Amino acid sequence: MCSIHWQHQFSKMHLFLLLLLFIRVSTFELSNSATERDALLKVMESWKVNYTTWVGNDPCSGWEGVRCNNLGRVTYLNLSNTGIVGPVPEEITALQYLEVLDLCNPRYGVKPQLNAVSGDLAPLGSLIHLRDLNVSFNDITLDSFPSAVFNLRNLVSLRIDNLRIAGPLPKELVGLTKLKYMYLANNSLTGPIPPEYGNMKSLQEISLWNNNLESKIPPEFGNLLNLTYLNLHECNLYGGLPQELGNCRNMDSMSLYGNSLTGIIPDSWKNMNKLRILWLHRNQLTKYFPEWLPSLPSLYNVSLDYNLLYGPVANFPNASLKIISFTCNYFSGTAPTAPPPLVLNFTGNCFDPIDNNNKIRCQQQYYDCSAYLKELPNGSCPRCPGLQSLEDPKTCVCTLISPVSETSSSKGKLVGSILGVGAFLLIMVLLWFLYKWYMKSTKPFEDLWYGPEGVIRYHVEDIVTATDNFHSRHEIGAGGFGKVYYAVLDGKEVAIKRANSSSIQSTSGFRNEVVLLSRLHHVNLVRLLGFCEGEGIQILVYEYMSNGNLFTMLFKRKTSLSWLTRLDIAIGVAHGLEYLHTFADPPVIHRDVKPSNVLLDNNLVAKLSDFGISKVAPGFDSEMPTRPCGTAGYIDPQYVLTEQLTSASDVYSFGVVLLELVTGHKSIDNARIDGQNLVEWVAVKLSSEGPESVVDKRLGNDYPKQIFHDIIRLGLDCAAFKSGERPSMKAVVTILDACRWSVATDVSVPNDAESSIVNEGGHSHGVVVGDQDMEKTAESLERFSTDAMSVVLPR
Ligand SMILES: Nc1ncnc2c1ncn2[C@@H]1O[C@H](COP(=O)(O)OP(=O)(O)OP(=O)(O)O)[C@@H](O)[C@H]1O
Ligand SMILES: *[C@@H]1O[C@H](CO)[C@@H](O)[C@H](O)[C@H]1NC(C)=O
Ligand SMILES: *[C@@H]1O[C@H](CO)[C@@H](O)[C@H](O)[C@H]1NC(C)=O
Ligand SMILES: *[C@@H]1O[C@H](CO)[C@@H](O)[C@H](O)[C@H]1NC(C)=O
Ligand SMILES: *[C@@H]1O[C@H](CO)[C@@H](O)[C@H](O)[C@H]1NC(C)=O
Ligand SMILES: *[C@@H]1O[C@H](CO)[C@@H](O)[C@H](O)[C@H]1NC(C)=O
Ligand SMILES: *[C@@H]1O[C@H](CO)[C@@H](O)[C@H](O)[C@H]1NC(C)=O
Ligand SMILES: *[C@@H]1O[C@H](CO)[C@@H](O)[C@H](O)[C@H]1NC(C)=O
Ligand SMILES: *[C@@H]1O[C@H](CO)[C@@H](O)[C@H](O)[C@H]1NC(C)=O
Ligand SMILES: *[C@@H]1O[C@H](CO)[C@@H](O)[C@H](O)[C@H]1NC(C)=O
Ligand SMILES: [Mg+2]
Repeated sequence: MCSIHWQHQFSKMHLFLLLLLFIRVSTFELSNSATERDALLKVMESWKVNYTTWVGNDPCSGWEGVRCNNLGRVTYLNLSNTGIVGPVPEEITALQYLEVLDLCNPRYGVKPQLNAVSGDLAPLGSLIHLRDLNVSFNDITLDSFPSAVFNLRNLVSLRIDNLRIAGPLPKELVGLTKLKYMYLANNSLTGPIPPEYGNMKSLQEISLWNNNLESKIPPEFGNLLNLTYLNLHECNLYGGLPQELGNCRNMDSMSLYGNSLTGIIPDSWKNMNKLRILWLHRNQLTKYFPEWLPSLPSLYNVSLDYNLLYGPVANFPNASLKIISFTCNYFSGTAPTAPPPLVLNFTGNCFDPIDNNNKIRCQQQYYDCSAYLKELPNGSCPRCPGLQSLEDPKTCVCTLISPVSETSSSKGKLVGSILGVGAFLLIMVLLWFLYKWYMKSTKPFEDLWYGPEGVIRYHVEDIVTATDNFHSRHEIGAGGFGKVYYAVLDGKEVAIKRANSSSIQSTSGFRNEVVLLSRLHHVNLVRLLGFCEGEGIQILVYEYMSNGNLFTMLFKRKTSLSWLTRLDIAIGVAHGLEYLHTFADPPVIHRDVKPSNVLLDNNLVAKLSDFGISKVAPGFDSEMPTRPCGTAGYIDPQYVLTEQLTSASDVYSFGVVLLELVTGHKSIDNARIDGQNLVEWVAVKLSSEGPESVVDKRLGNDYPKQIFHDIIRLGLDCAAFKSGERPSMKAVVTILDACRWSVATDVSVPNDAESSIVNEGGHSHGVVVGDQDMEKTAESLERFSTDAMSVVLPR
């Protein structure tokens, strides 16, 4: 009894404990799913979600867009396309087990609605189990990257694209070591692209298109061996295509179009043998067609349109390739043919016409290539392919000029006609002359250095002949480097700059300079055509600029330049400098920007000269000797203080030139009683008497006031005392181009007097495009601006 009693007591006790335990456990469970349910309902209320299935106690039983794990925890929440509105509610932090959160508003959905999740994403930072976060296409504006994301170390897929997020691309993303899909496209993010992203070895897809990155493509991307998709179109990229990307052997689609990428398409890219899509159009890529390209086994869609590629085009063997387009380049030789399923588009090149032997028509003009090719002034022809020269500038027909083939053909004719007559002697004499001529034209140089591609090494005798032994009659100017002569070489007008004894440098230094100069090609830079070196002689041969220098034009002529010409000159110089600073590889600092180094061609297109005095930007090796540089009145005051020449020093000098253009005053004028230094003079007069008081009186009242006032401000900004406060040339170009656009589209601009200058000056920068072209451009941008590779080819 006693024992039974005891047992009874025990089991009662036992039961009670069990019950207690059960109650505690179930209330624990209950309270947690209740917390998640309450949180979801609050989220629903706050975001105005309209889900009729969100009723009852258990969100895991049939609530639309919600999924749970087997412990009853919410792991998946999909509110895409539900019209949610407002900031991310704090209550969402209660969904501690969430792995997938989809707030995207799919644009290609059947019934797109605007999801307007707005503001900061801070509450998401505590959802540390998230693997998949999608907030694309929302109404989110942030001035820096949402730092909440850096906490989410389990993320595999991150989509925060098509929003309005500004600020730099964050290095901190490197902490997301599991990330495979990085979609940050179509925001306002700035660069550079952190090279550290090359350590995110899990990455498979990177999409950054349409951000203003102003970056190179980091070679470190070559470490991302699992990368299959790289979409960087319209990101303001510059520099070369990294050969390291050839290591990404899994690459499937690559879109780099609409940037300012330069250089060659690297041969190492042939290792990407799974590549299906390659879009490189609208860049400044140069050199030859990559002959290995058509034989990549998986290649499907390739676009090389609007680049500066030249030479022959490879053959197209049978392959999976469906479409390849390389319109608006400089390809030459026989026009390619395609085996049946392949679609080729190669209009706007320099291929041989079938009917017209030895004559080539570079067709860029006829296909409106110039809308993108800023290199090509409207109305002018593209350069003829090698061994051809321009025969007819109206039709852009080039003819063969090779002396060798002319020799042999006339030889043939002569042999045919004279042999019968038996004038054997005559033939011998003729042949002897021809032989002499031939030997002269191909006479080798003793040291066998023929200079870089694209420039000609001239014989000293030829230069001496062409300048009548440097006769003063041929002199057109003189400067610190030496004298400048006019001459006609090979039928072309040239300017010959001969180094005086103090400018002569070592042979290797001179050759280095020739190589450097030969790489710089821009419509607003005076082109180096050739060079000549010999005992005590160093000569650079430039294209001849028939309208001389800006100093003379602006300050020495009776007739004044019109406001539009001045504006176009400013834009031209700005473009030339921007090219030197951002597109030249390696970048170049001009170091001597001033009106006498701005030359004008026969269309009054401005071209910078004397970037030979310039030096490779710091950080790049160069054997070039340091020459005295800078000219009083244009020298960056920071340079005087710190002896550091930077691209900002060029901006300073440019600012002074801009002010000279607007005011018609010289940078330093001791006779100017109210201020000898132009920058101070303008600044003082602007604040005391207003902008109109500083504009060149010779312009009268006939100039666009607002634009000129803006340009005065810009000139002063450029000439800011502190280099950090000056804009980049890139920014300057943007502003000036916008000014030019507003002139071009402003109907109120008088079109009589000025239009003659426009025609005379040509549309020098490709910025004057008719409205129709503008629409066309906008349309094609729209067409290419999506993450559309997956749309074109469902994957
Ligand atoms: N390619 C060219 N075509 C036509 N004229 C030229 C050309 N290059 C130079 N000149 C003329 O020769 C002049 C002298 O040029 P140079 O560069 O030697 O001296 P500078 O520019 O006056 O001074 P600096 O030595 O400081 O550059 C120029 O001002 C220009 O009028
Ligand atoms: C919610 O959706 C139902 C149908 O799905 C609709 O009838 C109702 O008007 C919606 N309510 C709101 C507030 O949008
Ligand atoms: C969310 O739902 C939509 C359909 O409404 C679907 O297209 C999308 O893939 C879903 N998101 C996830 C992450 O499953
Ligand atoms: C959001 O992104 C995920 C991948 O991160 C994707 O599965 C899902 O379909 C996307 N949502 C929509 C609505 O497209
Ligand atoms: C880029 O995003 C904006 C919203 O910020 C959107 O309006 C625009 O359509 C997007 N552009 C493209 C090409 O998708
Ligand atoms: C790359 O992909 C392979 C095969 O899919 C996989 O085994 C490997 O783990 C991936 N590498 C990284 C760093 O994610
Ligand atoms: C190939 O790519 C171009 C864009 O460069 C696109 O317009 C075209 O539709 C694509 N063609 C095919 C067959 O996918
Ligand atoms: C290309 O394919 C066609 C038909 O598919 C075939 O007749 C031809 O021989 C092939 N040519 C080569 C070079 O493989
Ligand atoms: C070929 O390219 C030119 C210039 O880009 C374009 O005008 C033309 O429509 C294209 N033709 C085809 C068949 O795609
Ligand atoms: C080029 O000039 C012609 C005639 O002056 C004009 O019709 C055309 O629109 C111009 N094209 C561009 C791209 O500026
Ligand atoms: Mg000069």
